[in-house]
Amino acid sequence: MNKNLIKKRYQEKIKLFNHHNKKYYDENISEIKDSEFDQLKKEIIELERKYVFLKSKKSPTITVGFKPSKNFKKISHKVPMLSLSNAFSEEDLINFEKRVFNFLNKTREKFEIEYSAEPKIDGISASLIYKKGKFTTGLSRGDGKEGEDITENLKTIDDIPKNISAKNFPNEIDVRGEVFIQNSDFKKLKDKFANPRNAASGSLRQKNPEDTKKIPLKFIAYTFGHEEGMKIYNQYDFLKNLDLWGFKTNPYNKLIKGSKNLMSNYYQLENIRDQLNFDIDGIVYKINSFDLQKRLGNVANAPRWAIAHKFSANSGISKILNIDIQIGRTGALTPVAKINPINIGGVVVSNATLHNEDEIKRKDIRVGDTVTVERAGDVIPHIISVDLKKRKNDSKKFIFPNKCPSCSSITVKEFNLTTKKKDAVRRCSSEGFECEKVAIEKIKHFVSKDAFNIEGFGKKIVENFWKQKLLKLPQDIFTLNFIQIEKMEGWGKQSISNLKYSIESRKDISFERFIYALGIRHIGLENAKLISKYFRIPKNFFALSKSLNFDELLEIDGIGETQINSIKNFFSNKTNLEVLKKLEKTLKIQNSIALTKDGPLRDKTFMITGKLNGISRAEIKSLIEKKSGSIISSVSKKLDYLIVGEKPTKRKVDAAKQSKINIINQDEIIKILDKTQ
Ligand code: IVH
Repeated sequence: MNKNLIKKRYQEKIKLFNHHNKKYYDENISEIKDSEFDQLKKEIIELERKYVFLKSKKSPTITVGFKPSKNFKKISHKVPMLSLSNAFSEEDLINFEKRVFNFLNKTREKFEIEYSAEPKIDGISASLIYKKGKFTTGLSRGDGKEGEDITENLKTIDDIPKNISAKNFPNEIDVRGEVFIQNSDFKKLKDKFANPRNAASGSLRQKNPEDTKKIPLKFIAYTFGHEEGMKIYNQYDFLKNLDLWGFKTNPYNKLIKGSKNLMSNYYQLENIRDQLNFDIDGIVYKINSFDLQKRLGNVANAPRWAIAHKFSANSGISKILNIDIQIGRTGALTPVAKINPINIGGVVVSNATLHNEDEIKRKDIRVGDTVTVERAGDVIPHIISVDLKKRKNDSKKFIFPNKCPSCSSITVKEFNLTTKKKDAVRRCSSEGFECEKVAIEKIKHFVSKDAFNIEGFGKKIVENFWKQKLLKLPQDIFTLNFIQIEKMEGWGKQSISNLKYSIESRKDISFERFIYALGIRHIGLENAKLISKYFRIPKNFFALSKSLNFDELLEIDGIGETQINSIKNFFSNKTNLEVLKKLEKTLKIQNSIALTKDGPLRDKTFMITGKLNGISRAEIKSLIEKKSGSIISSVSKKLDYLIVGEKPTKRKVDAAKQSKINIINQDEIIKILDKTQ
């Protein structure tokens, strides 16, 4: 269900994007600002990045700036453009070779196979037809049988020879290879495309070749389709001849004997992958002899004589260029490794979290280290291990700053009352809005989904408004200078009016959300709820600033010494008191509602697993509780409904199925809540 909702949102955005794209290209009309158009495109890219299941042929990541394939004439490939089977491990390679030996009726002991090992560039394949040495037609792969005639666009690529006069150049040949964009050139386009491959694909299929010309596309040749009059007998010689004929070939191509030696080449390439100026996603191994290739032939859609040994889709090897310190809302200093950008499963990763000071110490991570970076699902990329063999002799231990890089206050490691140990995290000792970085993060938290939930007030906007000195404290959100904002790039009448509306509509806020939004350390949603229930009316909470009677909070079941110390700290800061005063005046904070015990969902229990879409867990929980339903935290016989969001915990869903518990999705719970008015 959530998947469907996400897909729907994604499709709507694509539809809107293509509407404006068509207007622009066909009618030269811009109904929205360029920046709004770019924003839309960015949103689509971000969705694709986040949810790998989203795919559309109409996506701007594939079709940007041109009309889709109906613009190009379709032409059949004389020899189909096949794909390759994949190997993911040494075992897969051994099995590949076994199949080859069996097919050829040969044994390993007596016969050694020679391979052409070629880095697999992650780009777009193209077929170039030469007749009597002249480049006549260029096709995309299309569905493998029929491609699109993109001759004019391919002609703009400098690496593609237009006339070849070499004596041994075949009378007719279809040279095939990969069109790609170099990583250094991708840097300039990285806001528009998720990865270099998408950038190459978009550029190659521009409607107007003049637009293709603006993008520095490259071409590397590696195979051929139909040919007449070619006197070359193996792949490696073919590659050498491609060079002589004026094509570019991959400098890392190698001739390797025996499958055992393929692995060392694989590791070598994996190690230098981040230093290459082009993305590779594996290595293609081709049996060198054309005779053997012919004997082996094809299976379905792929040749029996070749295989692609893919690199891991969730990890890669890179080098730490620098270690940055980021400062969070609670002053926590988080070290982040800036790494040589590397494409891991289609996403270009250039940052990896190092978690905290202790983690750096434990793994002895240093600037200059060669590391294995993992990126799995939605988790922030992180470093799994350091290759100590690659460490230089003059490498130095990383010294964690003892002063906050933002405000220069000393940094401290607090004593944790629960664990009775010092925290692993080092923090900026300045409390609250005095530290610029902390202040920005506090405002981001204030407007976030579970707090004020101000739509259209994202993190980037907070940062931008801060830079423009439009914001310093949370109350400034409610007195923004919209005249100044309208003059800023990326803002139009419509977006301003949307923002004004979202801000206005959030002035009326529940007591618990308000407390949560203040970002007091250790006061998350649950604690904010407890505190709001205890005080019932906001006035009582504000009175704390005068009464300073914090010990009364001990009466709240669930609030302990840690939370009370943190609230004390919060109320002992002058700026915080000023913020509270202003917000009390500006906002309409509702009293906390005493929950009725006899609502329509009384005796019903619910549990949520997975991510919800467009609504927070906290909001669903509070809606259920308002109707006297209760939330429990484990699947047991007591549970009536398991609400399943995106990426749910499989164990919970399985347990619920086994106990025949009702499993419902987000739409269904909303329906239940709507019905039980
Ligand atoms: S040979 C029948 N050689 O990989 C042989 N392909 O999954 C098929 N690729 O569509 C092509 N580098 O886009 C070959 N050195 C290389 C390659 C290569 C990249 C791509 C190509 C193809 C895909 C197959």
